[in-house]
Amino acid sequence: MHGQWTSRSRAATLPGGKSVKLGVIGCGKMAEAIIRGVIESGLHRSGEICGSDINRRKLGRLAKKTGILACSSNAEVILKSGVTVLAVKPQDISKVVSELRAAKARSRLVISIAAGVRICTIQQAIRNARVIRVMPNMPCLVGGGMSVFAAGSRATTADCRVAQRLFNCLGDVLQLSEKQLDAVTALSGSGPAFLAYCLDSMIDGAVREGLSRRIALKLATQTMFGTGKLLRELGTDPADLIAAVASAKGTTAAGLTVLESSCLRQALVRTIRAAAKRSRNLSGVGNP
Ligand SMILES: NC(=O)c1ccc[n+]([C@@H]2O[C@H](COP(=O)([O-])OP(=O)(O)OC[C@H]3O[C@@H](n4cnc5c(N)ncnc54)[C@H](OP(=O)(O)O)[C@@H]3O)[C@@H](O)[C@H]2O)c1
Repeated sequence: MHGQWTSRSRAATLPGGKSVKLGVIGCGKMAEAIIRGVIESGLHRSGEICGSDINRRKLGRLAKKTGILACSSNAEVILKSGVTVLAVKPQDISKVVSELRAAKARSRLVISIAAGVRICTIQQAIRNARVIRVMPNMPCLVGGGMSVFAAGSRATTADCRVAQRLFNCLGDVLQLSEKQLDAVTALSGSGPAFLAYCLDSMIDGAVREGLSRRIALKLATQTMFGTGKLLRELGTDPADLIAAVASAKGTTAAGLTVLESSCLRQALVRTIRAAAKRSRNLSGVGNP
């Protein structure tokens, strides 16, 4: 059950009207990753960050763990923060932005990570807000994230630099246009789940060939990690890597024959298309 969501709540208010550099609304998994990354990288100290969450128990736990300041309302966060990150689920965004509109916070830099919520939705709701929309992914939790951001029409170059620095604390960052975020959502946003699906299937296969699940998991995850590192660091094209590993009539060639005849390539192309289509539907854009 949610704890009390009032200013009487035990979890603190900010000391004497003091401003903080970063505020986070919604203190769940992604918020914790952002806060930890920012503190560990030295971008901001814990005392320069505040947060709010409808779930007071969750907020209290995160404040205790990280040392950030716990606010008694979402409005308090935006009014006191230089930069506000919206880290609630997409279905909770409209409630949050109407609270922020009522707080009469103007000309703020608001960074939303809510999947499928368009920049114009937030820009229209919060007067003169400079809005940046970011699509992070789950590996942000361990500093290996891929975040892509798009800037709203009011966001300045300096605002983009703020977003870049913030998400660089969690991994790599790229700026693209908002219309590209559906494809991004499908590839790097949902991608960790698709890759984990492939890995899980390969582990099942290795277990059938006699490995324990524990050993198969270790081999598979290190192989995925090392393959990503190799492709990135050497700049190798995936097709060239496949050719380099597969010698004629060898073990890899035998496996690749099955992959090709199973149409896995087409299935994965359809997978990305379905995820991108869903992202377009969620943001109310429909299909081109
Ligand atoms: N997880 C990912 O891999 C991922 C990747 C890319 C983008 N994102 C985006 O990141 C956002 C956060 O995801 P998450 O996985 O961190 O979600 P989460 O763990 O559920 O965290 C969201 C938090 O917001 C709280 N909340 C709900 N309504 C609120 C309100 N009105 N005011 C303040 N707090 C409120 C929730 O409380 P309750 O739990 O009590 O409802 C919860 O503690 C989502 O919009 C998602 O689309 C996530």
